[in-house]
Amino acid sequence: MEGRLVGKVAIITGATSGMGRDTAYLFAKEGAKVVVVGRNEKRANEVVKNIKEAGGEAIVVLADMSDLDSVSTIFDKTMEAYGTVDILFNNAGMLSLVPVTDITREEIVKVMNVNVLAPMLLTKRVAPVMKAKGKGVIINTGSIAGTSGRWGPVGYCTSKHAVNGLTAATARELGPEIRVNAILPGAIVTAMLDSVGGEASMEGMKQSSPLKRVGHGNEIATTALFLATDASSFITGQTLRVDGGVDC
Ligand SMILES: NC(=O)c1ccc[n+]([C@@H]2O[C@H](COP(=O)([O-])OP(=O)(O)OC[C@H]3O[C@@H](n4cnc5c(N)ncnc54)[C@H](OP(=O)(O)O)[C@@H]3O)[C@@H](O)[C@H]2O)c1
Repeated sequence: MEGRLVGKVAIITGATSGMGRDTAYLFAKEGAKVVVVGRNEKRANEVVKNIKEAGGEAIVVLADMSDLDSVSTIFDKTMEAYGTVDILFNNAGMLSLVPVTDITREEIVKVMNVNVLAPMLLTKRVAPVMKAKGKGVIINTGSIAGTSGRWGPVGYCTSKHAVNGLTAATARELGPEIRVNAILPGAIVTAMLDSVGGEASMEGMKQSSPLKRVGHGNEIATTALFLATDASSFITGQTLRVDGGVDC
C-alpha cells in the first residue's frame, strides 16, 4: 500500500463517529494502522470492518474515557497489537450543556475526564514511546468554544480552553521529537452538532461567516492528516481553527 502514513500506528479516540471516524478512514487509506477507540461496540466494529474491506488495517479498543483507567487499556492494547505508536489523535469529546448554577460535581468530573484528563494521560503514556523513536505527533481536538465564553456553558467551555493549555504545554515539554497541535473545529455536521439542533441551528453563524456554511468531518480529517505528516514539520504548539472563518 502506498500513502503518506505507511508504517505509522495511529490511535484515534472518538473514531466511532463524526470527524474521528472520517479521520480513521483517511489515515487508514494513507497506510496507517489505526486504533479505533470509542464506547459503541457496533459502530467501532463497523469502522474496522470498512477499513479492512478497503485493504487497510485497524483494531477496536472499547473504552469509556470518563473512567481514567481506560487510558491504560487504550495504550496497552495498542502496544499489544502493534508494538508502537506514532500518532495520537485525542479527538473524543462530550458536550456539557449545564450552566454553572446547576452543574453537579459528577458532570464536572466527567467532562474534564473525557475532554482533558484522559487526553493528558494518554499523552503521558505515548510520549516515552515517541521520544525513544525520535519522532511522534499528537493532535488534540479543541473547539472554537475554547476561544471565548460564547460557545458553551461552563463545562464544555472550560474543558476546551484547557485543551489549548494542554497543547501549548506539552508541545514545549515534548519537543524536539514530538510535535503537538490542536484542531479547533467550528460547526461541523456530526452527531454532536445534531444533538444541539443540527445545521439549522447554525444559520446565524453561517451567514455571518466568510464561507457561509458549516463544515464536514472530512475537512477535519484532512487537517489532521496535514498535522500528522511532515507537511507540517515546523508547526507545533498551535491551535488551528477550522471553522469557515467565524469572527468570534
Ligand atoms: N461537531 C462540532 O460542531 C464540533 C465543534 C467543535 C468541537 N467538536 C469536537 O470534536 C470532537 C469530535 O466530536 P464529533 O463532532 O465528531 O461528535 P460525535 O460524532 O458525537 O463523536 C464523538 C466521539 O467521541 C466519543 N466519545 C464521547 N464520549 C466518550 C467517552 N466517554 N469515552 C470514549 N469515547 C467517547 C464517541 O464515541 P462513542 O459514540 O463510541 O461513545 C464518538 O466517537 C469532540 O472533541 C468535540 O468536542 C465538535
